Amino acid sequence: MAQRTTLIAGNWKMNASGEMAEVLTDGLKAWAGKPGVEMLVCPPFPYLGPVGAMIAESDIKLGAQTCHANASGAHTGDVAAEMLADLGCSYVIVGHSERRADHGETDSDVCAQAEAAHRAGLCAIVCVGETEAERDEGATLSVVTDQLAGSLPEGSPATSLVVAYEPVWAIGTGRTPTNNDVQDVHAAIRGLLCERFGNEIGNGVRLLYGGSMKPTNAEGLLALQDVDGGLIGGASLKAEDFIGIADA
Ligand code: 13P
Repeated sequence: MAQRTTLIAGNWKMNASGEMAEVLTDGLKAWAGKPGVEMLVCPPFPYLGPVGAMIAESDIKLGAQTCHANASGAHTGDVAAEMLADLGCSYVIVGHSERRADHGETDSDVCAQAEAAHRAGLCAIVCVGETEAERDEGATLSVVTDQLAGSLPEGSPATSLVVAYEPVWAIGTGRTPTNNDVQDVHAAIRGLLCERFGNEIGNGVRLLYGGSMKPTNAEGLLALQDVDGGLIGGASLKAEDFIGIADA
């Protein structure tokens, strides 16, 4: 079976101030590390430079929360994947449900962003997840696999791709699917990846769970066969909680 390094990723979303970013990063640097576990922080754009400088000598990785599909041009307010690479990022989240909802990003937009990430040498964390209504209709597996099929660029190497399953109804709500439900969705995602890219790549891609992950439920979620880490929002804003998840 493929060895997959666990990835514990913090998505700060539009939170933190300069001072908070500094205090939080300082707290995270106290993490002793764990063999086979990689820690990633994804601050808002303005703090990428300062946070990157603070973690430069540590094992903590830097990532961004989105990128534009193009490398440059007249796109006011947007940021290219190449710029993120320049700032020391090694990851970028694409297709988060908040981006899909707030900015109308479609699967093909997300696919182009993931391609841009690869072009710039970044690992793309492609997010998918069903809404509560879709879940209630029993459509979770078809929604998630359709979204993923449309959001993945051709020829993604396993090392440049991470998939995050984030049920929209579990984000910031304190609710989570059962561990069995999470494993079922992750197994379907793994199946799709193997079908599309072959078993070697498909089994090498890391699959993260996201949505109300905390130190108290992380152990059970992270023990599931096809869960290779977490994408954490709220609990990534407290060093103690984020480290608690990384240690779980
Ligand atoms: P919460 O951990 O706050 O539920 O957010 C999850 C998320 O959206 C991470 O990208």
